[in-house]
Amino acid sequence: MKGIILAGGLGTRLYPITKIISKQLLLVYDKPLIYYPLSILMLANIREILVISDKENIEKFKILLRDGSHIGIKIEYAIQEKPRGIAEAILIGENFIGDEFALILGDNLIYGHGLPEILRNTKPPSIFLYYVNDPKRYGIAQIKDNKIISIEEKPENPKSNLAIIGLYYLDKYAIEIAKSLKPSKRNELEIVDVLNVYLKENKLNYRILGRGFTFIDCGTFDSMLEASLFIATIEKRQGLKIGCIEEVAYRMGFITKEQVIEIAKEYNNSGYGEYLMRIVQEL
Ligand code: DAU
Repeated sequence: MKGIILAGGLGTRLYPITKIISKQLLLVYDKPLIYYPLSILMLANIREILVISDKENIEKFKILLRDGSHIGIKIEYAIQEKPRGIAEAILIGENFIGDEFALILGDNLIYGHGLPEILRNTKPPSIFLYYVNDPKRYGIAQIKDNKIISIEEKPENPKSNLAIIGLYYLDKYAIEIAKSLKPSKRNELEIVDVLNVYLKENKLNYRILGRGFTFIDCGTFDSMLEASLFIATIEKRQGLKIGCIEEVAYRMGFITKEQVIEIAKEYNNSGYGEYLMRIVQEL
């Protein structure tokens, strides 16, 4: 399975900082936001990844993540000219996708015990659902008798509190669907329209990530702060990092101890480098 990280958008709700830098490059506590969705794909054992962003920011992502070989994966890059909708990522990635792929939004932070197993055991086409307090802000799925019966984007009158997380396990049929889509009222190719085609054909599976999980989409000042505080609280308490891509690569067997030490030396003066050094000494 391949992976796509969609890391474009204007980030208007975070202006003025997003005038000069992509939201997905902003710090969430001790690392750039994109590390969290990237580590999710890596934990799903996905090693071929396409990062999509806008023209201005794509070069910065390249500097940060390079071709991925230092963390044992292969990263390619593509430009989204304008934020024309999440489903456009499928069209941009058409030649990259292969049979099955996971599309993750670059601002989604997902965390919880047992998540790696769930990520590895879930088969496309599938979505992941999470109980939220403010369902009008999300894509919402309604479940009855263990089946999805409706999917709506930011409904005025939500039929449930189950938000659709920005992690979509899809297959190549999604390309055909995306090609047939018309832009919505807000002039975007909507991911929920893709999901609704799978749903109509009775093909869409779901997993609910319950109380033991955390899902934060970092689109506002408050959610950025909440995400940072959440990560800081757990990392300080446990002395273990969340979303540390080099550690994930090492634990997944993508890179050797020596490779981690090389990276740790590069980050010599930071707590991040010290942490990597500690991890390889302990494991
Ligand atoms: O976070 C989960 C939610 O993400 C889902 O529940 C919704 O169904 C889904 O539509 C999406 O809602 P958002 O309101 O968060 O969508 P937003 O337009 O903010 O886009 C999400 C991220 O994707 C954001 O970081 C920017 C990026 N993006 C978005 C669009 C529309 C792009 O890179 N390109 C785009 O064209």
